[in-house]
Amino acid sequence: MNNNKYHIKLYLVSSLVLLLVISSCKEKEEKYHSIIDKIEVESNDYHGISTSSGNYLEDLKLIEITEGEHTFLIPERKGKIKSYSCTECHTESLKELKKHKNFKKAHWDIKLIHANKNTMNCATCHSGNDMDNLKSLTNKKIDFNKSYKLCMQCHTTEFKDWKGGAHGKRLGGWANPRASNSCVDCHNPHKPGFETRFPSWFNTKTAEERK
Ligand code: HEC
Ligand code: HEC
Ligand code: HEC
Ligand code: HEC
Repeated sequence: MNNNKYHIKLYLVSSLVLLLVISSCKEKEEKYHSIIDKIEVESNDYHGISTSSGNYLEDLKLIEITEGEHTFLIPERKGKIKSYSCTECHTESLKELKKHKNFKKAHWDIKLIHANKNTMNCATCHSGNDMDNLKSLTNKKIDFNKSYKLCMQCHTTEFKDWKGGAHGKRLGGWANPRASNSCVDCHNPHKPGFETRFPSWFNTKTAEERK
């Protein structure tokens, strides 16, 4: 008999708890659908300051790109390339251009230190028929402003990390809108590696001997 009473008590208590949980959820749900909604809505106006990176990006020339589920801004590029547009000189085929005796080697400053010579030459990325655009491995046109599309053909891991925001540097602040440096803002496509740098060190023994 005692056992039965205990069961009834337990039943009552647990249904009360359940009711409380349900009603408190209801209350929250009325204002925000989820915790993410709450963060988004409340951070629009955080202590009277709206959170946006817009102010820090005002002076930059940016273009919007969409890659998969990621839409963000990258710096415009063509305006920064000194020898653009290429068709100022590349009005005839490379073969013809190279015949001109009075033309010095135009791009003497460009040495390709990237992949193996058998894998890559100038024509891997540039097209003699359309110098004002880059080209994919299957001869599709790629705009100089979207040269990451060139790199992503071979560097799939870095590209995936970059579009997700893990590789490369964010411009402005962490709040939206998102703006990120593009591959060529950091890597020279002709010589993309960085010199290895050693941390400076101090040899106490030599210093001692020099005294
Ligand atoms: C001032 C004139 C001039 C401009 C501007 C110019 N080029 Fe050239 N380019 C040349 C000449 C001349 C040659 C052929 C001689 C040589 O190899 O340097 C050449 C050759 C090339 C070659 C072939 C190199 C080789 O060894 O096969 C590539 C690729 C090239 N240019 C890309 C470009 C691109 C891309 C641009 C624009 C971003 C550009 N050029 C702008 C004059 C120019
Ligand atoms: C891996 C792809 C790739 C290869 C290979 C490549 N380029 Fe480029 N090149 C680019 C990209 C991307 C840019 C634009 C860079 C930027 O946005 O500043 C560029 C820019 C240029 C420019 C204009 C900028 C400048 O420095 O004057 C010239 C000229 C040029 N390339 C010539 C060449 C020549 C000549 C070769 C072969 C020796 C070559 N490229 C090989 C990708 C490549
Ligand atoms: C056709 C394929 C191809 C394209 C396109 C290409 N790369 Fe590469 N890249 C390679 C190969 C191959 C290597 C050499 C890998 C190695 O040595 O392990 C390399 C090496 C590199 C490295 C490492 C260099 C080092 O010394 O450690 C960087 C950084 C890089 N590429 C960046 C870029 C960028 C940025 C672009 C676009 C402008 C690009 N690559 C386009 C094939 C490509
Ligand atoms: C904000 C600058 C920045 C941007 C943007 C950037 N990278 Fe890098 N990348 C780096 C640095 C720094 C390293 C490390 C170099 C090192 O360790 O020597 C690196 C390394 C690499 C390597 C060599 C990886 C290895 O293991 O040796 C590749 C390939 C590469 N980046 C490709 C890309 C591509 C493709 C893009 C664009 C989709 C890109 N990067 C955008 C700065 C950048």
